[in-house]
Amino acid sequence: MKKVSNIAVLTSGGDAPGMNAAVRAVVRTGIYHQLNVYGVMYGYRGMLKNEIFPLESKSVANIIQRGGTILKTARCKEFYEAEGRAQAYENLKKHNIDGIVVIGGDGSFNGAYKMSKEFDIPCIGLPGTIDKDIAGTDFTIGFDTAVNTAVDAIDKIRDTADAHDRLFVIEVMGRDAGYIALHSGISTGAEHIMTPEHLIDVQDIIEDLQTNERRRKLVNIIVVAEGSIAGGAEEVARMVKTSCPQLDTRVTILGHIQRGGSPTCQDRILASRMGYAAVEALLNGTSNVMVGIVNNKIQYTPLEQAIKAKEHLDPEWLKMVKILAS
Ligand code: F6P
Repeated sequence: MKKVSNIAVLTSGGDAPGMNAAVRAVVRTGIYHQLNVYGVMYGYRGMLKNEIFPLESKSVANIIQRGGTILKTARCKEFYEAEGRAQAYENLKKHNIDGIVVIGGDGSFNGAYKMSKEFDIPCIGLPGTIDKDIAGTDFTIGFDTAVNTAVDAIDKIRDTADAHDRLFVIEVMGRDAGYIALHSGISTGAEHIMTPEHLIDVQDIIEDLQTNERRRKLVNIIVVAEGSIAGGAEEVARMVKTSCPQLDTRVTILGHIQRGGSPTCQDRILASRMGYAAVEALLNGTSNVMVGIVNNKIQYTPLEQAIKAKEHLDPEWLKMVKILAS
């Protein structure tokens, strides 16, 4: 078992609230164990460009509550190529880095996995994405904050929807995953929820809206994941308006506000536990795993299995939505 002495931490892919808390945990746990800890700016792009700097305990002071990432983030096409990874590894060697913690999504883990195989450098992944769509963990860093931001916004929209007797079609993030839509929709009492995982016939929704209209239930909220099978909120609203022109319909796209803001308590704790566990794993000689949380216990999954989890949405939940919104 190789002993690690110099580790690097980076944030990669789309940012997620709580990434800073995770960086802080990695840095402080590393320093506690007398490791030298480096920060890589802009994810793999910074690794390729040698934007690698030593971090001290005070470098991560006052960031646990901040959204975004002090290390910045980027998506880096060159890292998909073997040449790009070789260049990145050369730069890591310049700093004698012998262990890496990558905070990001499945694409970031894939890059880490390839580099660890090619250059025998241990890599640990931490799931940081608002989408919660990674296998091997019940929660990802940023999901709780993003979903609470969506809930807050949808509650406000319901106030005005109620005042005007309107139908709102609200789009939340989730290009490939419907967790934000499902969780925010259930917790705001949405009448319908549309996700990328389940095909919901817009015709059924239209019939339901017409039934509601006959019952004088005129306030309806449809929460649509941006990647829903039927399309985004604009498309869904267009179909509804064609069949129900009498309904006063509005569209709201929540967009990137879901990615920002101060992380919730749950995300800060999750990020702290995961960052701490990542360094412990490197010290124990564990490599090429993602740190996950399963039944509130830290669990390690091989990086190559920490891929996008698509089919975890429980269809029973959608049935429940129908019953509770009736
Ligand atoms: O991966 C998280 C995510 O928020 C997706 O839900 C969304 O489709 C995507 O990022 C947006 O990415 P970008 O900020 O690059 O437009």
